[in-house]
Amino acid sequence: MCGIVGYVGKEKALPRILSGLKFLEYRGYDSAGVAYILNEKVNITKRVGRIKELESSVDYNLDTYIGIGHTRWATHGVPSEINSHPHQVGKFTVVHNGIIENYLEIKEKLIKEGVNFISETDTEVIPALLDYNYKKEKDILKTIKKTLSSLEGSYALGIICSDDLDNIYAARCGSPLIIAKEDNGNFIASDVPAILSYTNKYILLEEGEIAKISKDNISVYDNELNKIIPKENIFEGTEDAAMLNGYEHYMLKEIHEEEKVYLDTLNYYVENNKFKNTMLEFKDYKHIHIVACGSAYYVGNIGKSLIEEYANIPVDVEVASEYRYKKNFYDKDTLVIIISQSGETADSLAALRKAKEDGIDTLAIVNVFGSSIAREALYTLYVKAGPEIAVATTKAFLAQTTLLTLLAVRLSKKEELLKEFVGLEKSINELLNKDYLEYAKYIYKHNDTFFIGRLVDYALCLEGSLKLKETSYINSVAFQAGELKHGTISLITDGTPVISICTDDLVRSKTISNIKEVKARNAYVIFITNEFIESDFYDKIIVIPKVSKLVSPIISVIPLQLISYEVAKLRGCDIDKPRNLAKSVTVE
Ligand code: F6R
Repeated sequence: MCGIVGYVGKEKALPRILSGLKFLEYRGYDSAGVAYILNEKVNITKRVGRIKELESSVDYNLDTYIGIGHTRWATHGVPSEINSHPHQVGKFTVVHNGIIENYLEIKEKLIKEGVNFISETDTEVIPALLDYNYKKEKDILKTIKKTLSSLEGSYALGIICSDDLDNIYAARCGSPLIIAKEDNGNFIASDVPAILSYTNKYILLEEGEIAKISKDNISVYDNELNKIIPKENIFEGTEDAAMLNGYEHYMLKEIHEEEKVYLDTLNYYVENNKFKNTMLEFKDYKHIHIVACGSAYYVGNIGKSLIEEYANIPVDVEVASEYRYKKNFYDKDTLVIIISQSGETADSLAALRKAKEDGIDTLAIVNVFGSSIAREALYTLYVKAGPEIAVATTKAFLAQTTLLTLLAVRLSKKEELLKEFVGLEKSINELLNKDYLEYAKYIYKHNDTFFIGRLVDYALCLEGSLKLKETSYINSVAFQAGELKHGTISLITDGTPVISICTDDLVRSKTISNIKEVKARNAYVIFITNEFIESDFYDKIIVIPKVSKLVSPIISVIPLQLISYEVAKLRGCDIDKPRNLAKSVTVE
């Protein structure tokens, strides 16, 4: 939620900051701004809308070698120039990702002290408090330390003080921030893709740490201002990972990476049909809770089906925003699994912390290396999806499903099941190369779509429905096929699109009966199945490869993703950045 980029070095700062911001636009894109130092003065430019609006308002060639930029996803206050970042009060200019929960309290206190606020944001209290504290402390690091101790909530911060025009200061608590080094300067950024065009060397700022960054030096301090030596990381992927590479959209590019992502995830944990030691050994848990948000929650539902069926362990799947507040029944025999692509989702992180506080074993299934959830869980297993830029998740969903399937096998202690994965990439490839436009051409004209399926196919329906809603703005709901007749079938009228997924032999005939029920009400049925059936109960059939039930969900999601993509394209939607959304939801 919101992206930060800062640069200080020997190269011109604005091209670096703005190109970095473009890679972070997935984190928020309703306004953007930049602060840079020119002629010994901090200058600020902000614009409502996308980064391109900001780009056309600043001169790339300005002789500025230090600056901080921001792309915003509005939480407090509408998208407007006043509410966009950077925010400046007195000597301090700040960009912020996160939420300051006690901002009203701080604001009231500072107003009484005569401080004037101009925006509706929570962020503005940060430069205001910095400026207020600086008057007494007269030392920038001590001022930052004191200010941070008053903030409640989450933040990653880039700070410039007009008394020190050679350094950028940074701090984090609950929101990610990296510091990256290149030969001629240093960056701060919310995520690695922002800096990959220049360097792959970076430091992950840890919770509570403060950094002072000049063109040739990075100093990191703990929250008591003791200097520490941070660990340097090298990003293993290539810059290509963050580029479109000829694809029209990141969503399409990322779907087409699924064959590789599947193999990378599989090969990281398995060799010659045996687990490598990268796959953890688990004790015999009696219960599993899977906790996640959005698509990751739907992966959890697939995981439940597989773990219950193959490992015989009961699994509860919970939405993280509920789990963190509800009464949970768990004990030392329970494993809590948190699934998160970003590893920074606020509710998932809070659910993890709650389980940890209660002394429960936790396992994180995460894509982003070094993210908060990955670092805080007792155990972590990474999926190998690489950077995911499109807001709607696709390749990470497939990678998470692959890893959950491997986990089900691990927990089942039946390693011989690993042979079911052999050659699955061919089926992935086959599905990626099919044309889904004809189905999209029917759906895109309608305002409502239904997805129906049973058991694990229902979990896939949930994902198919979410993908369609978020990318094409078509209202859609997913139902367990047998449930529709208990009320919702009243919504089926002439031509209503119904997408049915039917891969499980156990319930095939039952699902088909339910499809006939909607067909009898003149629905337009797109039947996705792994066994061709000649019949008139569907309008269109998509036959997917028949693979073992264990690995089937890994491939079944592909037609759903590509149909959503094609529908969104036909409707002219902003596919990679759907309205109102942002990737990585680091606020509650
Ligand atoms: C949907 C989507 C979201 C995320 C959810 C969790 O396409 O991307 O529903 O799945 O916000 O995000 P992570 O996995 O980063 O915790």
